[in-house]
Amino acid sequence: MLLKRRSDRVDVLKKVPLFSDLSRRHLDHIAREADEVKEKKGAVLTRQGGLGREFLLILEGAARVERDGTAIARLGPGDFFGEMSLIDGMPRSASVIAESPSVLLVIEARSFQKLLDTVPGLQRKLLATLSARLRAADVRLASIN
Ligand code: CMP
Repeated sequence: MLLKRRSDRVDVLKKVPLFSDLSRRHLDHIAREADEVKEKKGAVLTRQGGLGREFLLILEGAARVERDGTAIARLGPGDFFGEMSLIDGMPRSASVIAESPSVLLVIEARSFQKLLDTVPGLQRKLLATLSARLRAADVRLASIN
């Protein structure tokens, strides 16, 4: 389902955990900056080593995060990815591949930076997810060593 009306898109954004605490005004701001894109199963959404140009969030579907060809995480509706390269300016840390037909919310780098600087609480939410991912990676690493 692709939502054409901005008010419909705001309703969808409100249900995304990353945005759930935001005011209607800020959700409207995000809805204006974001595009919805449909992708087929198997589409490469970010490529490891590539340039990071956008932040992506899964509205519908599922994706696999792969590093050097090994799956390291699975993402589903409400999960976001592509933030790392936009934050540190380094190449994409992993490939993200659609595991089913998916609908994504895509925010260009410049808009993403603007949202991080202007939407209260967004940085904190993002950091909480990054902490959770680091914790999960630490657990995996400890179980290997
Ligand atoms: P980025 O490096 O820009 O592009 C690849 C993305 O994959 C990365 O941002 C994160 O959003 C995501 N990613 C990388 N490693 C993990 C992980 N261990 N768990 C979940 N997502 C990850």
